[in-house]
Amino acid sequence: MRITVLAYRDKEDGEIADMAVGQVTAALRAGKHRVSVLGIHGDPRKLIAGLIRRKPELVFNLMEMFGDNLLGAVPVVGALDLVGVPYTGSGPGEYYLQEDKALTKRLLAFDNIPYPDFAVFSKDGGLETGGKLRLPLIVKPLRLNSSTGVTTRSIVRSDMELMNRVRQIHQSLRDAALVEEYVDGREFNVGILGNDEPVAFPPIEMDFSGLPVGAPHILDARAKWNERSTEFKDTQPVLADLPDERRARLQQVALNAYRAVRVRDYGRVDLRLTETGEIYVIEVNASCYLEKSSEYAMAAAAHGLDYPALINRIAELAMERHTRRDIGVRCRPRRPTPKLATI
Ligand SMILES: Nc1ncnc2c1ncn2[C@@H]1O[C@H](COP(=O)(O)OP(=O)(O)O)[C@@H](O)[C@H]1O
Ligand SMILES: [Mg+2]
Repeated sequence: MRITVLAYRDKEDGEIADMAVGQVTAALRAGKHRVSVLGIHGDPRKLIAGLIRRKPELVFNLMEMFGDNLLGAVPVVGALDLVGVPYTGSGPGEYYLQEDKALTKRLLAFDNIPYPDFAVFSKDGGLETGGKLRLPLIVKPLRLNSSTGVTTRSIVRSDMELMNRVRQIHQSLRDAALVEEYVDGREFNVGILGNDEPVAFPPIEMDFSGLPVGAPHILDARAKWNERSTEFKDTQPVLADLPDERRARLQQVALNAYRAVRVRDYGRVDLRLTETGEIYVIEVNASCYLEKSSEYAMAAAAHGLDYPALINRIAELAMERHTRRDIGVRCRPRRPTPKLATI
């Protein structure tokens, strides 16, 4: 198959920094596909022209931003829909359902999937609560991901701290603030692959035991991205060691959340487990990060899918979904010109 890997470029003439791009390309080539890479920063004309020139049968979409827009994933897949090319992962609607974390919670609520109680403080002063909240709380941006704006100071223990943190999110990230009850406990994520019959990989646990005593057990931005920080070195993803029943329950809750938010092809669900055995969904990541050493790839390997097999399976799932879609948008057939009635 002719596949174009769509990737984010730092600047219009900049680099493609994401290591996953080369890895996915190599995996697809190993799967005998003819693969090209299209690196785009923020010019929609380049995106459209690049696709028209390459004429891919499938786009492998690794583009999560557009220009400087951190929420660019939605318009990018919208453009792919307009061009009419099949692509891996979620479409604009599905992406939006998980990007807005309060909307995700509403969907989870309908299916009785547990999540921490929350409130949203919008910039225009609007307040939406999903229950009476108990301290401590954690304050995050409503729609940004990759732990943007999440630091150890995000955990607040008084009204004063809460309002300061909310104001900071409004001012520095220009997003609404999502305030959630802080769930103390172990943190897991469950990778999921598939559409009609999605499978859950073995859970990965975040091992916080390397952190200094008293440091909050959260995956903040430093722990995720700053390779030189102690938080990065002291938090390790490991294959979770759990009794069978508990593992199965985590996987089931994750699968329910994946379905509730209508994730397509692949995704990852972040969860927390309290000491008393309650499970809470923290967030659903549609089209999660696919780098070779990511937690998702690690979980797939534990399930028996090596990296090339995983990547080629995602391409296959997207193609299958596209071929048998039943609500396609088609042109309305031309009506025959009505015969003029003879008077
Ligand atoms: N309600 C919560 N209780 C405890 N920890 C949380 C909660 N929400 C977020 N965290 C911590 O912050 C991290 C990032 O939050 P998350 O909602 O997953 O946002 P992101 O989209 O940035 O990954 C989580 O991995 C977890 O460690
Ligand atoms: Mg997360």
